[in-house]
Amino acid sequence: MIFDFKDIKEEVKKDLKEISNSRELKQFSDKYLGNKGKVANIFKRIKDTSQDKRKKIGEEANLLKNDIVKIISMETRKMEAKKKKEAIKKERIDITRPGKKLEQGHLSPLTLVQREVEEIFQSMGFSIEEGPELEKEWYNFDALNIPKNHPARDLWDTFWVKTGKDSKEHPLLRTHTSPVQARYMEKHHPPFKIIVPGKCFRHESTDASHEIQFYQVEGLIVDKNISVSNFSAIIEEFLKRFFKSKDIEIRLKPDYFPFTEPSFEVSVRRGKGEWVELMGAGMVHPNVFKAVGYVQPPSKSGWQGFAFGVGLDRLAMVKYKINDIRLFNSGDLRFLNQF
Ligand code: FA5
Repeated sequence: MIFDFKDIKEEVKKDLKEISNSRELKQFSDKYLGNKGKVANIFKRIKDTSQDKRKKIGEEANLLKNDIVKIISMETRKMEAKKKKEAIKKERIDITRPGKKLEQGHLSPLTLVQREVEEIFQSMGFSIEEGPELEKEWYNFDALNIPKNHPARDLWDTFWVKTGKDSKEHPLLRTHTSPVQARYMEKHHPPFKIIVPGKCFRHESTDASHEIQFYQVEGLIVDKNISVSNFSAIIEEFLKRFFKSKDIEIRLKPDYFPFTEPSFEVSVRRGKGEWVELMGAGMVHPNVFKAVGYVQPPSKSGWQGFAFGVGLDRLAMVKYKINDIRLFNSGDLRFLNQF
């Protein structure tokens, strides 16, 4: 009987060179050490050999088996080491590589201006209040001495919000921050000084100084012996601080607002620059005090007040020399990244 140990060893050597992955190593192991493998085949055939050769062939077969077992465990270790090395190479972090730059956001010019306005008025003893953007008709108009069908309603083109056909009263997007005057006075007794920053909406065509959505800051002081000169002094002081310049001129022109009497339009200019209309203002109308339930007539209670509504976008435009209000909502990064 022929035992082809030499041929098997040659074959092992040849096969070994072909192995490049664990699947091939498993096939190699099965080929030689499996139940029907070449080594098992030898052991099966030993019993058919003569007694005197059996021991020697048995020893040789065991040696062959051990060699193959050793080869397989060595190959397995080699493969694992290779895998590990590749994984380390792949997952390696190059700490000398420059990091990815994280884009940092920043505040919009309108937020910057709003915060600055708040800071200045707070330092003058004003508190900051707010009110809803979706407003009741009563607060936006009636309480401010603008009853239904009053021609003054035409001054503020409004977005009405439909809430169902059975609803008697439709809310609207407030056209100014003045409704918060009435809301605040309903709940608070004078004396007080408040400002109210907030978003306003108007149904009107846009141009370089008008947007359909913009910001105002309302101001309201109610106290005894309040006059227009208090108002001019406060506004002038505010503008000087806001523009960080003494070279600020304000101009009051008579105007008309149903909720103030007398009323003014206030414009500002820096140095010899253009006049920019910044705000409406005036002494609080007695009918507004009446609508919020203050003692009537006002001469009896002695309370007087002035109010103003300044365009925040316009303040930002004068401060940063922006020539078109529409840039604020344009989403143009070339504009926004300058702040
Ligand atoms: C009012 O809105 C009054 N509520 C202001 C007021 C308050 C008067 C308290 C008296 C007492 P007027 O419509 O003029 O008034 O607007 C006030 C300011 O808001 C304007 O001077 C301007 O700076 C700004 N503004 C008005 N409409 C727009 C618009 N479409 N786009 C940008 N800013 C606007």
